Order: sequence, then C-alpha cells, then structure tokens
Amino acid sequence: MMGGCSSEREISLKSGRAVVGALQEGRFDVVALDVQSETQEDVLRLVRENMVDVVFVAMHGGFGEDGRLQEILEKIPVRYTGPGAQASRMAMDKTVSRRRFAQAGLHVPRSVVVRKGRRYLLMAGWLRKPFVVKPSAQGSSIGISFVAGRKGLPDAIAEAHRYGEDVLVEEFIRGRELTVAIVNDRPLPVVEIRPKKGFFDFEAKYHKGLTDYIVPAQLDRRLAARIQADALKAYRALGCRHLSRVDVILKDEKTPYILEVNTIPGMTETSLLPKAAAAAGMNFVQLCRSLVEMACA
Ligand code: DAL
Ligand code: MG
Repeated sequence: MMGGCSSEREISLKSGRAVVGALQEGRFDVVALDVQSETQEDVLRLVRENMVDVVFVAMHGGFGEDGRLQEILEKIPVRYTGPGAQASRMAMDKTVSRRRFAQAGLHVPRSVVVRKGRRYLLMAGWLRKPFVVKPSAQGSSIGISFVAGRKGLPDAIAEAHRYGEDVLVEEFIRGRELTVAIVNDRPLPVVEIRPKKGFFDFEAKYHKGLTDYIVPAQLDRRLAARIQADALKAYRALGCRHLSRVDVILKDEKTPYILEVNTIPGMTETSLLPKAAAAAGMNFVQLCRSLVEMACA
C-alpha cells in the first residue's frame, strides 16, 4: 500500500514503487495499491478485490503511519508489515513518544507543546535558544523552522500549525546527526547524515547530492554500541516490531538524544534504512523479502 493523502504522498509513492520492484524481483506476486482515501471501506475493498495475503505498508505520514490504517488491517484481519496500531500511534506523535523515551531513561530535547489557538509560555531557563519548531505529527521535515530567538517564534509556530494541532518548540541540540535503522528487532550500523549546507530538510532529504551519508558512521566502537542500544530502547519503549528508524543527535561526542522513531521509514533503494541494511550485508530485495516473512511469522 502506498500513496495516501498525507503531505508525504509523493515520497510514499517512491517508497512503494521501489518495494514493488524488489518484491517482484524476489518472485512475489505483487500488486501496487494506491490508497486514495482514508476510509475503512476503501481499504477493505482494496484488500478483498486483490485477494491480498500480506500488506506491505509503504505509506508515510498521516493515515498510513499513525496507526489508523493498521487498526483497519487488524480488523479485517490481514497481515501487514511494520509496527502495530498502538506503537504507530505513539510514534507518530512526538509529544507522546518523547514522554515514553524519557521514562525509559533516554535523553530527549527539552520542549513545550503549543496547541493551536492557545497561548504559550516559554519559561526562561527551561527552554534555551536557539529553537526548533515542528508539527508534533509530521514527517520528512515538513513544517519545520529553526529559530534563533524568541522573536521568530510566532511565525514559526503559525507555519507549523498549518500541518497539525500540536506544535513542538524544542531546544536545538547541536551535534552530529545520526540515525539507527532497526530491522527484526535488531539495530543496524549507525548512519551519519551530513547535509552539505543548512540542515537535513526536505530538499536535503530528497534531492540527490545535497547530503553526504556515512555508513557506518565513524564512531568509536563503544559509543556506536551505546547509540544502537539507546535506539533499540526507544523502539521497544513504543512496542515497535519488524522495522523502524530512530533519529538521534549526538551531543558533545558522547550523549545520544533521541528525536523520534519513524515506523514507516523511507524505502527507496537510496533511503537511510536500506543503506544501513546494505552495510549489514542485506540487499534491498532481501530486506523487502524478510519484512514480508516477518509479517507472516
Ligand atoms: N518520513 C520519511 C519517509 C522517513 O522517515 O524516512
Ligand atoms: Mg520522521
């Protein structure tokens, strides 16, 4: 299943097409289902009409990633790849998931939530500038702004509110940008992301050549193992299964801060999770096949 109605639709179509190609190569009988509405009836119809045994979920953002689709698939019931409904729901909401991460003893950036239409108060000392402002439930860096000081907040908050009711204003954590892919409950080699300019925004994510990726990241062995262990803890704190990708900032070369868990990570052949899988000796076809096998287990 790919597409969907979220602002990540186009990315999802890319992921979906790549997965279809890989599964065909892996000799599966595959049909590409472009999901164009968010209703139970339509999902049900797609699954029934196509006599689907297993759904490979390649829908980013909104309906495909926030647990609603998973809930419908469970009701049908049909097997599907990726985390279940409850884990998806928690992961999609950064406010909820970060509370879980903190309870699990992980470091998270300090933040406040600003609900649409409500006043907000940033206590001096609690949140230090610079800030990152982002919709609480969005992917692919859509709606994000970096803000040097308080003056810039109202505009940044208004922009982020275009994409959802809740907006996070968080302390910007300066450090190396890393991500840890998890497949079958095991962390893969750490990937470092180095945008050539600015930050890893939508442009840098999806235009070839704007970002350098280092796999595995150059880290001392103990530190790499600690980062992988923290990522796995974050994944477990939400009760994920099959796969996810945990985004991390490494502060002062020693402390991993967990930003979020992506339960439906980008799945084009050049996306981060497939890159990490390749570094672990698993090519894209093998990766897609093993995800289907996990869903059938
Ligand atoms: N939200 C995008 C697809 C990712 O996490 O890779
Ligand atoms: Mg994300």
